[in-house]
Amino acid sequence: MKPIQVGLLGIGTVGSGTFNVLTRNQEEIRRRAGRGIEITMVADLNVERAREIVGDRARVVADAREIIANPEIDIVIELIGGYGIARALVLEAINAGKHVVTANKALLAVHGTEIFAAASAKGVMVAFEAAVAGGIPIIKALREGLTANQVQWVAGIINGTTNFILSEMRDKGLDFDVVLKEAQRLGYAEADPTFDIEGVDAAHKATLMSALAFGIPVQFDKAHVEGITKLAAADIRYAEQLGYRIKLLGIAKRRDDVGGIELRVHPTLVPAKRLIANVEGAMNAVMVQGDAVGTTLYYGKGAGSEPTASAVIADLVDITRLHTADPDHRVPHLAFQADELRDTPVLSIDQVRTAFYLRLRVADQKGVLSSITSILAASDISIDAVLQRESNEGEHQTDVIILTHETQEGAMRAALAQMQALPTVLAPIVSLRKEELA
Ligand code: HSE
Repeated sequence: MKPIQVGLLGIGTVGSGTFNVLTRNQEEIRRRAGRGIEITMVADLNVERAREIVGDRARVVADAREIIANPEIDIVIELIGGYGIARALVLEAINAGKHVVTANKALLAVHGTEIFAAASAKGVMVAFEAAVAGGIPIIKALREGLTANQVQWVAGIINGTTNFILSEMRDKGLDFDVVLKEAQRLGYAEADPTFDIEGVDAAHKATLMSALAFGIPVQFDKAHVEGITKLAAADIRYAEQLGYRIKLLGIAKRRDDVGGIELRVHPTLVPAKRLIANVEGAMNAVMVQGDAVGTTLYYGKGAGSEPTASAVIADLVDITRLHTADPDHRVPHLAFQADELRDTPVLSIDQVRTAFYLRLRVADQKGVLSSITSILAASDISIDAVLQRESNEGEHQTDVIILTHETQEGAMRAALAQMQALPTVLAPIVSLRKEELA
């Protein structure tokens, strides 16, 4: 049988990895797919560089629309990124009857509803394994492997840049700004790292996982997003003393008590004894808890040329196996049948329930601790642990660290405002959320 023909839009880091792995492992991949898979056309604005990568094995064009217009092309891989031209090209490819493989988490988290609807109407597949956690097959796990379960929660380190920065801050005791510069010098952080360090990239990925886990539409605009830019080395140190590590987690959790879903990205204290707390450097890991399977953990490289190519090619193989199947019998894009998605609300951050870590810079005088604990008690917030550093000689002020039991965010915000107003609280209170992930 003639190989399935693929057109590649954008041959940067992931595109060249995809081309190289597909070429290197073509025989193994053909045996698995039941048919050869060939990238026969590549579109890239940098035609010269693209030609250097593909040689005479594929036709290189500058205009992506030449690929979309080619009736010989069965699958289009979109590796351009962003929401602009990528959205237009993906929709055009779908309308031209092409299946689409994309690594574009931003595009799907924001425009997924439109794109999946267009694909269903046209009877084509949009596959996106590479969009979340790079080489880790977490989409496959959520969509197929865990299909028997009511997923309780998903929590992941799904941004390698920020995990690298947090690991360095902890290892070297350095502040965020210093480590960011070093990460940029080493190529672990982009020149414009905003999407990574502000938690936006992780929120795109968490949004996709929430849809797959709970059968809700993708709703990036409902995600609560906090990055790591305000995190201080002191809090990493105190957390360590209390047996916790701080990780930027993307969390999606079902809340049957209020009939909603929590969807949030923020720095999170995690018990140091958990495997996920020990995921270091640029590595990614995702935990999924299902009612039947219990807690599962998926670990690997969340970015990079060939790890991400591994996910892109897995999608190519899936589409090659399934493209002749009746569209009604394919695996649904978001794990649940499209007409079975529910409008279960994504909860506001005030409704989220977590435990908290608080750091208060206080005057070292009598009654300070009791005035703080009285506010917490009156707000129905229970204290789990307290750590008070001995004040330095002659300093007359100190840090009080409090771990609370789980409480509603809204109650904690109100209590924080009261504590902040105390004359003995001398600096803005640091509050971080804590998850046991048990
Ligand atoms: N910038 C991402 C990260 C990789 O640092 O993990 C692509 O999503």
